[in-house]
Amino acid sequence: MTPPLVDEILRTQTVHAIEGSATLPLKDAIDAEIGSLLQKLILEKRPSVTLEIGLAYGISGLFICDALTKVGGKKHIAIDAFQSTTWSGIGIHLFVKPDMEISLNSAKQLSQDALPQLVNEGVKVDFAFIDGTIPSTKEWWISSMSTGF
Ligand SMILES: C[S@@+](CC[C@H](N)C(=O)[O-])C[C@H]1O[C@@H](n2cnc3c(N)ncnc32)[C@H](O)[C@@H]1O
Repeated sequence: MTPPLVDEILRTQTVHAIEGSATLPLKDAIDAEIGSLLQKLILEKRPSVTLEIGLAYGISGLFICDALTKVGGKKHIAIDAFQSTTWSGIGIHLFVKPDMEISLNSAKQLSQDALPQLVNEGVKVDFAFIDGTIPSTKEWWISSMSTGF
C-alpha cells in the first residue's frame, strides 16, 4: 500500500519546501507501480538493512522505509550526491518523522565514493535499489556489501 505521504505527493505531483509554504514540482521520482514492486520485494525478502542510490525528493526511500518498517528492518542507507543542492535537502527532511522506526543513514556523496567507504566500514546490505543517473556505480560494490540474497 502506498504510504499516505507518498500518495499525496504523487497525486499532487508536488513536494513542500522545507521552509515556508512554497511547493515545488515533483521530478524524476519513481511511480506507484515501481514503489509497489519495491515493497513487494522487501515484504518477501525481509531485509534488515537496505540501500538506495538516488534519493532525490525521497519517493523511493519512503516506499522502501514503509515496507522495511513492516518487516522489522533496522536501517536504510540513502546515497545522493546532490541532495543538498538540486533537491534542497527535501528528500532527507521527509524522513524526519516521529513514527519512523528505522534509522536513516545518508551520504551526500557520489555513490562511487560512498560505497567503497561503506565496504571499508564493514557495512552489509540485504537489499539495494540503484536509481542514480550518473552511470559510474559498479555492481561490484553492491555484491561486496550483500549479505546473500
Ligand atoms: C532518478 S533520480 C532518483 C529518484 C528517486 N529514487 C525517487 O524515487 O524519488 C536520480 C538521483 O540520483 C542522484 N545521483 C545520480 N547519480 C548519482 C551518483 N553517481 N551517486 C549518487 N547520487 C547520484 C541524483 O542526485 C538524483 O537525486
